Formats: sequence, structure tokens, C-alpha cells
Amino acid sequence: MTDHDIIVIGGGLSGLRAAIEAHRLGADVAVISKVHPIRSHSGAAQGGINASLGSDDSWEAHAFDTVKGSDYLADQDTVEILCKEAPARVIEMENWGTNFSRKDNGRIAQRPFGGAGFPRTCYAGDRTGHNLLHTLYEQVLKRDIRIYSEWLVTRLVVENDSCTGLVAMNMADSDMEIFRTKATILATGGYGRIYQRSTNAIINRGFGISLAYMAGVPLQDMEFVQFHPTTLWGTNILITEGARGEGGYLYNKDHERFMARYAAGAMELAPRDIVARAIQSEVDEGRGFPEGYVHLDITHLGKDKINKKLPGIRQIAIDFAGIDPVNEPIPVQPGQHYSMGGVSSNKDGETPVSGLYAVGECACISVHGANRLGGNSLLDTVVFGKKAGSAAVDYIDTVEFSSEVNFVDLLENEKKIISDMMGEGGENFAEIRDELREIMQEYVGVFRNKEKLEQAVDAIRNLKKRSRDLKVNNNSDIFNFELVNAIELKGMLELGHVIALGALAREESRGAHYRTDFLERDDEKWLRHTLAYYTPDGPELDYKDVTITQFQPERREY
Ligand code: FUM
Repeated sequence: MTDHDIIVIGGGLSGLRAAIEAHRLGADVAVISKVHPIRSHSGAAQGGINASLGSDDSWEAHAFDTVKGSDYLADQDTVEILCKEAPARVIEMENWGTNFSRKDNGRIAQRPFGGAGFPRTCYAGDRTGHNLLHTLYEQVLKRDIRIYSEWLVTRLVVENDSCTGLVAMNMADSDMEIFRTKATILATGGYGRIYQRSTNAIINRGFGISLAYMAGVPLQDMEFVQFHPTTLWGTNILITEGARGEGGYLYNKDHERFMARYAAGAMELAPRDIVARAIQSEVDEGRGFPEGYVHLDITHLGKDKINKKLPGIRQIAIDFAGIDPVNEPIPVQPGQHYSMGGVSSNKDGETPVSGLYAVGECACISVHGANRLGGNSLLDTVVFGKKAGSAAVDYIDTVEFSSEVNFVDLLENEKKIISDMMGEGGENFAEIRDELREIMQEYVGVFRNKEKLEQAVDAIRNLKKRSRDLKVNNNSDIFNFELVNAIELKGMLELGHVIALGALAREESRGAHYRTDFLERDDEKWLRHTLAYYTPDGPELDYKDVTITQFQPERREY
């Protein structure tokens, strides 16, 4: 058994930021991650990080854009924290070494992004996440913070509503170990890979979210799934919103700038939910290209600007589609990109279980509501990562390491669960996983209705039954990815179930949740957050109020 005051699960931006803060405040903190931190999905973020830096912008304007973008579902007290702290966190990242793109006067450059009334997205070319991640990783190394890399956490130890540790498997040799903690911070990212078409890294299977859920923590607003409008057709690699921010146009097959039909004011820079629906409508109604895409055209920006501001997406289009965007438009289609929902947590990342915190994409602190604005997720990671690190340190001063839990039995039990999964024959994880992905894509996608959602719920129930016969045929102890995938599949099925059931229950259209059988937003009935609680028979849903401070809900037009 190994003890650390605080363990952060996840080595992406929010996890590293939380660890740095906890270390600064004197805690013995370690990071545990199923991949090396530099391979975290945060590194894939392209377009930027929002902050009201100039004197002609303000945190209030940023907050208004965020709340309107969220279709009024975000909690406005947490949005205020996000937007007020943004400039300090961005400058801090700059001071720590992030290589932000510059204006001619040397100040941090900012570009327009969807749904923003002001160009407030700071960026490092189109590799912003990569730059931020390397910066924080360097800071972690400088502080000698212990990192357990390539360890899969298989269980949170939660007893009497308090989290006292975790069980994890060293993927290099499949050895299992107990880690005793006073506080645990979940920073495990999203679940994009439960969808067939996603911008997310293969590792984004939502396992951290499902660990908390199965340990009794409610998940919040899971039906709100963000589809990024412009993913590369076929592979669904992200093609940054920065391409439209820099002046790119969207065209249908008739070379019409179709956004005029959907958001005549903002055009290509409408929020993501609106642009994703517009593209999907063009395709569904026969105005897209028959293969299922539209064109994103940046040729008019010219080679120099593309090389300077968008070098990453140029290379991606060349490498993965054989298209040079300097000369040709890029074929794009919507793809799952982000989870607005997650582990229910407050402004300090505290969950309803003492000693358990959640931050970043795996959490629902509720700053994104029903639709996140581009550039706000990187911001969320550094603002709330820092806050959770600090809150966890306050908490550990009030508790001791648990001596009540029988950690020895717990470890033996966990080893048995895993060894029972090994064997010949049985169901194969990949078949069940692929069916889940098809169901989510087809029935719980950009456009939803009762019939499709009921089909999804039934089909997922069926997959859950089949998964009881899952067997891992590969018996290697060394990086057994069949085993890792099989362990995580259970969580993926749980999350799919929560998303589909929450979407079925929510009989309105709000932000990214669009019901073709309930076209309007219904504040009277549905201006509230969904909470999903685990039961062995499936999720139980409950609801709670949205916090409104300065901005009363209005009709959302762009
Ligand atoms: O389009 C993008 O660059 C993505 C940004 C984001 O999700 O915030």
C-alpha cells in the first residue's frame, strides 16, 4: 500500500494544474495517469484559450457570451469565477513559458471564436493545447511531483460517503496496488470514444467519470454532448474553429455560404451547436456532398497566413485527406467533441463525496451549460484545476488516512474481479464497444427524438446484459490492452445509458440537445440540471435548479 495526501487521477491540463497548486500549498501530491501526461488529450486542443485581456473587453462581456452560449443552463456564479480569473491564469501560463502567438506590439494575440462578441481567444498557432500541456508538464517536473505513468485506476475506495483511496493497475506488468489518500482529484477528461465519430483521443473512454458514478456520485447534465462542426471527413480529426475565426467560409455542394440560412449575423462564427446542426441539415437535406460533408474553405487566407496561424490543420489535411488547404477546401462533418456534463461538482471541484474532487472535462462544475463556447475548455482546466488543488489541501488538514477500510481485502477482491474476466471464448469487448458507438452516433447524435432515444436505451440495456459474458482472451501481463479495454467497457456502457436516458427525459431543445419532436427551449419545465444516480438496474434521474445571477434567460439569436 502506498500513501499520498492527494492523488490526482489524470495527467492532462486540469490534473497537472491541480497538482501544481496542491504542491505549492505543501501537500504530498502525486499524479496517476493511464498515459504519459504529454500524451493526454489536452495536447490535441487547437484553437485557443479565452480571456478578456484588453481594456476594450471585460469579464462581464465574457460571462454574458458564455451564459448565452450555454443556452442559459450554466450556473452563473461559476461562470463569473471562470471569466474573472481568466486573464490571471493566461498570464500565469505565459510567465511559465507558453509560447503564445503575438501581435505586432508584442502583446498576446487574440482571435475571434464562435459565439463570442469580441476576439478574446488567445492562441499558440493552432497548437495551443500542446503548448499549454508542455508548459505545465515542465512545471511539474521542476517541482519533482511524483507521476505514476501508465497506471489504470480501476476503483475508487468510497465508504460512508468519503473517498479514502484508489486501486490501480500498473499496465506495464498488470500488478495491482492500493493507494491510500486523504483527497483524490479526478481529472480524467471526456468520454468521446463512446461515439463512432469523435475528435477525441482513443484514451477518452470516460472511465474516470464512470468510476465516480459507480461509487455513488451523481453525474450532471450528461445529455448535453458537444458536436464540433468541423472535423475532417472520414477520420474526424479536429479542424479548429480558429480556421473560421481567421476568416474561413463554409460552403455546401452548390458553393453557397449556407450559414446565412441559420445565423445570418454571426455566420460561420455562430456557436458550435448551431453550426453543427446547420452542416448536418445541409447534408441530410441533400445540399451537402453525397459522401456526407461540406467544404471549409480557407484558400483565400493565403499560404503565409495559413502557415503562420493554422500550420497544424494544414498538415493534418495533407497527411490524412491528401488535401492542401492552401489550394483546396477541406471536407468537414460534425463529430463528437466535448462533454458539457460530467461528475457533479461545485466551484472548488468538490463532489458530494468527501475527499473526492473533479475538474476539467470529466466534471460538471456547470460553466458550459447546454453548449460550451470554443476556447472555454482550456480556460476551465487552469481556473478550476488550481481551485480544486487548493480546496483539496484545505480538506486534507481536517482528516487522517483511513484506518477503517480493510484495504487488504479490497485489493484481493479487485484482483479477483479482474482475474474472473480472463478466459477463452465469451463476448469480445470490441464488438460490444463498436455496437455502442454505432448506437450513440445513430440515435443520440446531433438530432434526437423519442423513438430514436428509446431505441438507444433498449439497445444499451441489451449490450449491458451481453457484457456480463465478456472474456479477455489475451492472458499477457504486459500492457494487456484487451484487458484495459474490457475493464473500461463497463463504464462506457453506463455513460451511454445515462446520456440516452437523460436525453429521452428532457423534452425540449436546448443548446447541443436538439429534439426534433420538441423544437423549443422550455424554461418553465426544463431550466434545471439533470442528475443521474447509479443503480444496478440503470440510472435514476433527478433534477436541481440552475443558479442565475446577472443574466435572465432570453431567446438565443445570432
Ligand atoms: O476548434 C477548436 O480549436 C476547439 C477548441 C475548443 O474546443 O475549445
